[in-house]
Amino acid sequence: MGINGRGAIRGEVTLPGDKSISHRVAMLAGIAQGSSRIRNFASSADCHATLDCVRRLGIEVEVNGREVVIHGQGLRGLAPAEMPASLDAQNSGSTIRMISGILAGQRFTTVIDGDSSLRRRPMRRIIEPLTLMGARITARDENYAPLRIIGGGLQAIDFTSGVASAQVKTCVLFAGLYADGRTTFREPSMSRNHSELMLREFGARLDQDDDGSLSIEGGTELQAVEYRVPGDLSSAAFFLAGASALAGSEVTVSDVSLNSTRTGFLAVLKYLGADVELSNVRSEHGEHIGDLRLSGGQLKTEAAGVVLDGEIIPHIIDEIPILAVLATQVEGRIEVRDARELRIKESDRIQTVVAGIRAMGGVIDEFEDGFAVSGPQQLSGARIETDGDHRIAMAFAIAGLMAEGKTEIIDADCAAVSFPEFYDILESLAGEGRIAR
Ligand code: S3P
Repeated sequence: MGINGRGAIRGEVTLPGDKSISHRVAMLAGIAQGSSRIRNFASSADCHATLDCVRRLGIEVEVNGREVVIHGQGLRGLAPAEMPASLDAQNSGSTIRMISGILAGQRFTTVIDGDSSLRRRPMRRIIEPLTLMGARITARDENYAPLRIIGGGLQAIDFTSGVASAQVKTCVLFAGLYADGRTTFREPSMSRNHSELMLREFGARLDQDDDGSLSIEGGTELQAVEYRVPGDLSSAAFFLAGASALAGSEVTVSDVSLNSTRTGFLAVLKYLGADVELSNVRSEHGEHIGDLRLSGGQLKTEAAGVVLDGEIIPHIIDEIPILAVLATQVEGRIEVRDARELRIKESDRIQTVVAGIRAMGGVIDEFEDGFAVSGPQQLSGARIETDGDHRIAMAFAIAGLMAEGKTEIIDADCAAVSFPEFYDILESLAGEGRIAR
């Protein structure tokens, strides 16, 4: 895939459904009683991996374009066609970590695996709480897929996670649906809260204390829902970053998720002086949604620069690759810290981002837990290795619009893991001849 720089982007973006919300609604609909109709379900390959796993558990799933109907079997009605059940999470960390909470509650054995990238990602973070609850799990080197899960007979636990990870939180809360008693989950700082909001939509008994800890009552059957998934702000972020840095750009996005645990990147754009306008903000299924319009201009930090660390990191975690690209166009210094988790995403995202920016002639300092960029810098078109990571491919396609000359993205199609429509939309925004396939 080739991208010709440098130039503005303009137009309207229609987003596919949010990936995080789509995973959760598919899994919970599968174990609810009755049939759930889900509109604007994510087109992402990851979410379709989740649908395949749900099907393999003996749950009927009808897919009609963006509409999905899932015929739930209740908490204990799953009936895989083969034993042990065999699931493939493909590239999706969310799928394997979240569905393992459900599998731990089943009285049958499941083997769940994924692709070579997923097999490198740590699973001890979910194996530990699920084992404490009574599941028997074996894993390669006690940490990596494939996982063999023998579930059933779970006991409630009071668990404090070492990482602020919504995947771990979701896994424990889903297992808590099956446990005898009340399961409590605590995390070092708040990760995205879609599971909490959605569990309540399905009728789970979930409470949150003032200290942020969550408690879920085991044994409550869930009830089917009618659900409309909002657009994915993490997908929109690529265009928002491009539009905010490229003079003459204007992008509008409607029906996008504005959940406050996901809008950290918008807050950063606003801090840098981006012209962002929100409208039609409303609440659906407990989730905030709205429309947004953003136009380009020169972004800058305060004179001393800015350090992004601590509690904001889980709220921008998926946007950090595009933030690094954007930082090259911002006047001032942007430093990201406390983001070690990036090293264990679909690729080592600190390393892939640093290598990509350097390949384009940019200057970036690498730290064990982040990086720092001082801008503005003139990027030059280059050949970019993505390591098969969707967010790296998309971030550097946008970098290509900011660079002089032509940028080539290797294995660009991996963008489909979260956003299959990405290059079509980019082409419509960037104009004729800017994208060469
Ligand atoms: C996600 C949580 C985050 C994020 C991932 C989606 C989710 O991962 O990076 O893309 O939907 O819960 P962690 O839970 O590992 O931080």
